Amino acid sequence: MKVNLLALLLLLFSFAQAEDGYRLWLRYDQLKNASLRTGYGARLTTISLPGNSPTLQVARKELQMALSGLLGKTVRIPETRNPLATLQIEISSGRVSAKELASLGEEGFLIRSTGGRSPLLITANSEVGLLYGVFHFIRLLQTEQSIDRLNIIEVPQLPLRMLNHWDNLDRTVERGYAGFSIWNWHTLPTYMDQRYIDYARANASIGINAVSITNVNANATILTQPYLQKVKALADLFRSYGIKVYLTARFSAPVEIGGLKTADPLDPAVQQWWKNKAREIYALIPDFGGFLVKANSEGQPGPQDYKRTHADGANMLADAVASFKGNVIWRAFVYSAEVPDDRHKQAYSEFLPLDGKFRSNVLVQVKNGAIDFMPREPFHPLFGALPKTPVMMEFQITQEYLGQGTHLVYLAPLFKECLESDTYQKGKGTTVASTLNGMAGVSNIGTDINWTGHLFGQANWYALGRLAWNHELSSEDIAKEWIRMSFSTDPSLVSDLTQMMLASREILVNYMNPIGLHHIMATGHHYGPGPWVSNLNRPEWNPTYYHRADSIGIGFNRTATGSDALSQYHPDAAKKWSDPATCPDIDLLWFHYLPWNYTMKSGRTLWNELCYRYNLGVDSVSWMQTVWNRQQSKLDAQRFEQVKMLLNIQHQEAKWWRDACLLYFQSFSRLPIPAPYEQPAKSLDYYKSLQFPYAPGH
Ligand code: GCU
Repeated sequence: MKVNLLALLLLLFSFAQAEDGYRLWLRYDQLKNASLRTGYGARLTTISLPGNSPTLQVARKELQMALSGLLGKTVRIPETRNPLATLQIEISSGRVSAKELASLGEEGFLIRSTGGRSPLLITANSEVGLLYGVFHFIRLLQTEQSIDRLNIIEVPQLPLRMLNHWDNLDRTVERGYAGFSIWNWHTLPTYMDQRYIDYARANASIGINAVSITNVNANATILTQPYLQKVKALADLFRSYGIKVYLTARFSAPVEIGGLKTADPLDPAVQQWWKNKAREIYALIPDFGGFLVKANSEGQPGPQDYKRTHADGANMLADAVASFKGNVIWRAFVYSAEVPDDRHKQAYSEFLPLDGKFRSNVLVQVKNGAIDFMPREPFHPLFGALPKTPVMMEFQITQEYLGQGTHLVYLAPLFKECLESDTYQKGKGTTVASTLNGMAGVSNIGTDINWTGHLFGQANWYALGRLAWNHELSSEDIAKEWIRMSFSTDPSLVSDLTQMMLASREILVNYMNPIGLHHIMATGHHYGPGPWVSNLNRPEWNPTYYHRADSIGIGFNRTATGSDALSQYHPDAAKKWSDPATCPDIDLLWFHYLPWNYTMKSGRTLWNELCYRYNLGVDSVSWMQTVWNRQQSKLDAQRFEQVKMLLNIQHQEAKWWRDACLLYFQSFSRLPIPAPYEQPAKSLDYYKSLQFPYAPGH
C-alpha cells in the first residue's frame, strides 16, 4: 500500500512537472538565478496599475501571474495608484512628455526607468498599448535582462498584424498539421474554452492584432445568424487583448444563404444584401475587422464569374463595411486554368491594371512568392508594383511545403529574406517590407496539446508576430528570445539551439528543393516528393511543369528567351537573376534551364551540385540530431523526446526526398551519383508507388 501511494505521488509529481508545450513561450517558472530574482524583487516592490477596464484586467492578471511565477512569491497589483510608492512600476500615461506620447501612436508603448528611487513606467496612449508594454516587460524578465535604466520605445511598424486560420466549420484544418481547429463551433457561444483565452494571450504577447478565423476556401454558413453569435463570443473575448476578428466571405453567399439568383457585384440587390449582412455583423461585433476573400482562385467563386474584375468585387464588399471602418482583404493568389502563361506571371498580369481602382479600405494580400509558399521563392513581383493600393504580405506559418508537422524548420530567415529583398520600385532600398501595410501568417495552430504539433512550430508563430511588429529584428534575436522563454537561458543551450534553428531552413531547401527547384512535391496532400507527377488536369499543377527536366538539362527558363517572368520585376531587381553567371545559386533553376554539365560557381557540374546539395541536406539533419541530443541534460524529458523522435522522422524523410529526387532526375541526366554519396536505398518505382491517402491537412 505504501509503495503504491509513493508511486502515485511520484506520478502526480511528474504530471505537475510535465512540459507538454501548452504554455508556449509564456512560461513563468521561477527564475533559476537567485540573485537576479532578488534584484528584480527589490526593484519591483510596489506596482500599481490604475483602472479596471477589461484590457487592464487582462494586463494586471498577466503581470501578477508572471511576477508571482518568475519571482517565486505572490505579487498582487492593486487597482489604484499608491502615491507613497517609491519603487514601482507605474503603468499609466503620466510623467512622459506630450511629444513622446504622440510618437507612440495608437499601439506603441514606452518603458522607462531612471534608476535609483524613481519609478519604472510603462506608458501608452491606449490600453492595448499598455498591454503590449506589459508583455514586453515580462519578456525582459523571462529573458533575464536588466531592468535598470530602461528607456524603451516600441511602435509597431505595420498597422495590421494578422493570423489567417484555414479552419473549416467541421473543425478540419486545411493544411493543418496540429490536430483539429481550436474553434469548437458546436459548443460556442456558451462554452468558452480556456484555449481561447490562452490563444489571445499568446497573440497579444507578440502584437498580433487581427485574426481571420475561417478558411479562405470559405463556407457561407459562417455568415448566418447562429454562427455569427458564435463569432461574437470569440470577438468579445479577443477585444480585451486588442485583437479584431475577420471572417472569410464566400463570394457566392448571396445566392447560397441569401436566396438571390446572382452574386454579381454590380447588381443592386447583391450590393444591398452585403450591406445588410455587414449591418447585421456590426450590430453584434462593433469592431469587426472585415472580410478576407479568396475569389476566382482554385475554383472559388468570384466577380469574374459575372465578367467583373477583382476591383468590382472587392469594392462592393468594401462599400458594405466602409461606414463601420471595416476592411476588405482581397487575395492576389490567382491563376487560371485557361491562361497558358507561366503561372508565375498571372497574378501580376491580373492585378497590375487594377492599381488605383480599389477603395481605400481594400488591402490586396500577396503571398511572399509568385507560386505558392515554396521552401524558397524570389519575392512576388507585385510587391512595390501597386503604389496606389495598400498591400499586405501573406506568409505561410503552417509548413505545407516545408516538412509539414514533422520537420524542424525555423521560418524567420525565410520571412526576412523576402522582407529585405529590394524591389527597386522607388529606387535602391525599396525593400519589400517598405511597401507593406500589413502582414498575415497562415496559422499552424490546432488542438494538439502544444498547439503547433512540432514544438518548434511555436517559434514560427512567435516569429511572425515579432516580425510583423518590427521586421528589423534579426532571425537570431527572435530565436534567442523564443529559446530563452520556451526552454532556458543556459548559454550553451541557447547557442546550440539558435544555430540549429538558423540553419534549419537552408537545410530543408537542400534536401527538398535545392538550386531553385520548386513545386516538386506529391499531389494533393503535398507530403513527400513527387517530381515525376505529370498527369494532373491543369498543366501548372504538375511538378514536371516546374522543373522541365529532360535529357539535356533542367530548370524553368523565365528570362526573355523563356516565359519572361523576369520582365515583371524592376530591371534593377531582375538584373542579377537574368544571367546564369550572376544569378545566385539559390535561384538558379527558378529562372534558368541549364544543361546537366553546366559548371556551377563551386566548380562542380550542375548534376554533381544537385547530388552534393541533396546529400548535404541529409547530413545536416544528422548534425541537427547531434546538436539536440547533446543538450539532453538541459531539457525536460517530455519535450526532449518529442523533438528527438521528430528529428528521426525528419532524417528519414530527408533521405526519402534525396533518393527519390536524385533517382528521378538521374533518369534524364543518365549520370552516376558520385561515389562518396550514399546510393539510394530503393528503386524509383518504389518511391513512385508510395501512397498516403490519409495524410493530414488535405
Ligand atoms: C495552396 C494550398 C491550398 C490553399 C491555397 C490558397 O494552394 O495548397 O490548400 O487553399 O494555397 O492559398 O488559397
